[in-house]
Amino acid sequence: MTALTPALSQREREKYVRIAGWGKYLPERVMPNSELEELVDTSDEWIRARTGIGERRIAAPEETTCSLAVQAARRAMACAQVDPTELDLIIVATCTPDYSNMPATASLVQHALGATRAGAFDLNAVCSGFLYGLATGSQFILTGVHKAVLVIGAEVFTRILDWQDRSTCVLFGDAAGAVVLRPTSEPGGLLSFVLGSDGSGACSLYVPAGGSRQPASAETVANREHYVKMQGRDVFRFATRIMPESVLQALDQAGLSTEDIDLLIPHQANVRIIDAASKRLKLADSAVFANVERYGNTSAASIPVALCEALEAGRVHAGDTLVMSGFGAGLSWGTAVWQWHG
Ligand code: ACO
Repeated sequence: MTALTPALSQREREKYVRIAGWGKYLPERVMPNSELEELVDTSDEWIRARTGIGERRIAAPEETTCSLAVQAARRAMACAQVDPTELDLIIVATCTPDYSNMPATASLVQHALGATRAGAFDLNAVCSGFLYGLATGSQFILTGVHKAVLVIGAEVFTRILDWQDRSTCVLFGDAAGAVVLRPTSEPGGLLSFVLGSDGSGACSLYVPAGGSRQPASAETVANREHYVKMQGRDVFRFATRIMPESVLQALDQAGLSTEDIDLLIPHQANVRIIDAASKRLKLADSAVFANVERYGNTSAASIPVALCEALEAGRVHAGDTLVMSGFGAGLSWGTAVWQWHG
């Protein structure tokens, strides 16, 4: 009985979750739009006007989703001053795992980090993956079960692109971002979240072959069915509707309104989607973070990388209300309202 009392009181005290550390990793190689002009019938002008993207990063041949994730994770752990052996859980949000079926990339990351005490699993909610991971990881902290959870969004998305398809290959890039979640007694952290899915739009954005529905064969390879296929206009319509809707829903759950937003960190897919959502939410440019110009859409990595850059740029302060909102294949979406601890 006496042993239980202090543990319970600590759990009662530390009833909030904070982001104790953050880190990002971008592969060195920069691919500007001009390089794409040599591959497909496109132009820098078209890409910039329709997407806001100027360049993206491409992983080196020896780099993998795991290696990108490990780099971002090490930086996040150094920032949080957390030793790998202190980690209780590692969540890797990705749709481009090192191996298509098994093992989980999270297990590879766990081994590479030397996180000998940690459980590890992958989470695939595509571009919404980091928000799903953040909400999931936070629950392990908020229930008092875990003290240190690493949430990573990592993608080598350019490996599932069809470099002959101009409607998709100009949009994406490779990156990883990570955060360390810890309990705290200081109020703040995750105030509310919304996770959503509409599988009726599954074929708006998908990779047709390579899964159990259509296993890999010589024919699927010849038909280029292992690459991303996208109905861009459908996804655009969905994204511009769902992002403001889910932001309003999450704000409402937190008892807040758009006027309380200090910074919106949206999924970085297309500057036109970000602008349309910001306009519907009546947010000033200064309350919205965008770096899509430099990295393109890095799927599950986009929000944690943007969070890191917003912090580096001094755009996040103690007590600020951050709203992170993502959408993507599934179709899926996720929004979190987060009060920054500083
Ligand atoms: N260069 C030049 N022309 C192009 C290119 C290109 N790279 N790509 C398409 N076009 C052409 C089309 O063929 C079309 O020509 P047509 O009128 O002769 O048929 C024309 O440009 C217009 O095409 P639209 O598809 O109408 O262009 P739109 O303005 O919708 O922009 C885009 C296309 C950028 C893909 C947009 O629809 C979009 O951003 N959609 C959302 C995509 C997205 O965010 N996906 C990721 C979701 S997150 C995830 O889960 C991974």
